[in-house]
Amino acid sequence: MMNKCIITTLLCGIFAFACLSLSVQAAPWNQLTGEQLEQQLTEKFAQGNYSNKGADSCLMCHKKNDKVMAIFDSVHGSPSQQGSPMAGLQCEACHGPLGAHNKGGKEPMIAFGKESKLSAQSQNSVCLGCHNDPKQMAWHSSSHNLDEVACSDCHNIHTDNDPVMDKLTVNDTCTSCHTQQKSDMNKRSSHPMKWDQMTCIDCHNPHGSMSESALNHATVNDTCYSCHGEKRGPVLWEHAPVTENCANCHNPHGSVNEAMLTQRAPQLCQQCHMDDGHASRVVQQSGSDAFGGGKSCLNCHSQIHGSNHPAGSKLQR
Ligand code: HEC
Ligand code: HEC
Ligand code: HEC
Ligand code: HEC
Ligand code: HEC
Ligand code: HEC
Ligand code: HEC
Ligand code: HEC
Ligand code: HEC
Ligand code: HEC
Repeated sequence: MMNKCIITTLLCGIFAFACLSLSVQAAPWNQLTGEQLEQQLTEKFAQGNYSNKGADSCLMCHKKNDKVMAIFDSVHGSPSQQGSPMAGLQCEACHGPLGAHNKGGKEPMIAFGKESKLSAQSQNSVCLGCHNDPKQMAWHSSSHNLDEVACSDCHNIHTDNDPVMDKLTVNDTCTSCHTQQKSDMNKRSSHPMKWDQMTCIDCHNPHGSMSESALNHATVNDTCYSCHGEKRGPVLWEHAPVTENCANCHNPHGSVNEAMLTQRAPQLCQQCHMDDGHASRVVQQSGSDAFGGGKSCLNCHSQIHGSNHPAGSKLQR
């Protein structure tokens, strides 16, 4: 009886000790919550224990990772590039001070990308520390920033060829998140994006802009005119919705209808022209008359973007 009791007490004691030491010991960083991680890293920064051997101290353990080594093929890895990390704090310029990270794997480093538990804001503050030129001014109010997209969700750093900086692959990066636009650009009628002859950034600024939908130009129409200059006019007889917004009738990303129209005529026209205004219109059974068949309203109103003909007020000539 007595012995059993002692053993139990002893075991309890050992367990209690084990529990205690667990709670005192720092948990491995991949088990920390995002908040705990942010806190640890903040403390690490406050201590500021940078290694005195720079990248060499990291490569002791990380040089077998080809991805890590690829940074030396990029501007960030070039010691001769003025202001680049490699000309300064090296790896720690982005990943934070080494601290005790190399001692038994106790301390985390700043990690980036989709797997990182750090908030996008914390990750981005590292990049913005160097990239704070006026070109990034619109970033702070952009929907990418407000919706917590990280710089490294688009940019790959450990590479000599960042796919988002390459015209032939940038659309893939964008459409990995923007699936609606991916589906639109593959529809029957679209801008030649599926062949990468045009890219999302022909119209949008990925870092945000002062315009709606982060467009490169002040308005939707100015964006379209930058390539379709002939639609700018001025024309003698304007069609109000055209001068107002090309997207009244076109989906700039693509559509199942010809000419990227949001709907086919006559429905397209009848959204606004409740009654088509033709008092003496003959109603035909077949539906293949000038009003309903083929190009429908456009059979007669062919100058849909406006007319320069003196008698073109009804957009017919
Ligand atoms: C003593 C070996 C060692 C040294 C030295 C070392 N690391 Fe690590 N590092 C590790 C280990 C182990 C991991 C965990 C690996 C894993 O999870 O795959 C790691 C993970 C990381 C990660 C990923 C963190 C995460 O949360 O996923 C980064 C970034 C990193 N190290 C950067 C650095 C940098 C920068 C230096 C130099 C300042 C450095 N390391 C020095 C061993 C080391
Ligand atoms: C300009 C900032 C920057 C610098 C400098 C930098 N890194 Fe990174 N590192 C990143 C980003 C961002 C990622 C996320 C992956 C990516 O974007 O390529 C990353 C990822 C990593 C990872 C995780 C790799 C994996 O397999 O998932 C390790 C480890 C790492 N870096 C170590 C280093 C070491 C060692 C150095 C110095 C030789 C270094 N980094 C320099 C920004 C940087
Ligand atoms: C220590 C300063 C520093 C930090 C931190 C830094 N960069 Fe850079 N970065 C530079 C310099 C210097 C260049 C080369 C000159 C330039 O393009 O402004 C550069 C270039 C770039 C380029 C253009 C690359 C090219 O091939 O033309 C991109 C994209 C970029 N950085 C993104 C990032 C991202 C994303 C981060 C954060 C993960 C980051 N940078 C962190 C200094 C830094
Ligand atoms: C939505 C994707 C996306 C995000 C998020 C993003 N970028 Fe970019 N970035 C791009 C693209 C695309 C280019 C190429 C632009 C071009 O060629 O006109 C680029 C170019 C750059 C360049 C080089 C050209 C320049 O403008 O100086 C730098 C530096 C840069 N980005 C830094 C950053 C930083 C820092 C962040 C985070 C604050 C960030 N980027 C977030 C997509 C993105
Ligand atoms: C990591 C996911 C992700 C990637 C990659 C991404 N975006 Fe976004 N984007 C978002 C989120 C989230 C929003 C905000 C919610 C929304 O409008 O869907 C957004 C919004 C936008 C908007 C609307 C802006 C506004 O002010 O209304 C545009 C335009 C856009 N992205 C273009 C791009 C382009 C161009 C690229 C490639 C260079 C890109 N995005 C890459 C996630 C992403
Ligand atoms: C020809 C110019 C053009 C191209 C190319 C283009 N867009 Fe757009 N995008 C626009 C216009 C114009 C709008 C605003 C539409 C509106 O007001 O109805 C827009 C709106 C958006 C929005 C916001 C949608 C919403 O409902 O708020 C996103 C996201 C977007 N574009 C992503 C992309 C992506 C991703 C690509 C590349 C696959 C791309 N765009 C290519 C012109 C373009
Ligand atoms: C960067 C240049 C560029 C911009 C900006 C641009 N387009 Fe285009 N657009 C093109 C090209 C290239 C074509 C394909 C021409 C061809 O196939 O012959 C095209 C074709 C079209 C077509 C005909 C599609 C078809 O299937 O016949 C329409 C409609 C169109 N664009 C509308 C717009 C609208 C609306 C905007 C503004 C939101 C716009 N475009 C902005 C370059 C541009
Ligand atoms: C009221 C609806 C409407 C508006 C608004 C509109 N379009 Fe169109 N657009 C059409 C129709 C309908 C067609 C097809 C014409 C045809 O089949 O002859 C078309 C065809 C086009 C085409 C391909 C054929 C051509 O004429 O070159 C381009 C490019 C185009 N539109 C650009 C624009 C631009 C740029 C704007 C804004 C300035 C705009 N559209 C505004 C209805 C509209
Ligand atoms: C987004 C709304 C909208 C759409 C879509 C639209 N229109 Fe219009 N349209 C207008 C407005 C507004 C006017 C100017 C009415 C006025 O001045 O009384 C107008 C004027 C006209 C006129 C000249 C009328 C007059 O009294 O001088 C014709 C013809 C016309 N539209 C035909 C069409 C056709 C054909 C389509 C389809 C391809 C179409 N519209 C699509 C809004 C629209
Ligand atoms: C067979 C040729 C023809 C077709 C098809 C046609 N229209 Fe017309 N439309 C005309 C003519 C001609 C006028 C000018 C009548 C006038 O001057 O009184 C006109 C006038 C108009 C007007 C101006 C009405 C007004 O009160 O002055 C509008 C709006 C209009 N059409 C819209 C449409 C729409 C929408 C369609 C398709 C559903 C369409 N039209 C199809 C020939 C046509």
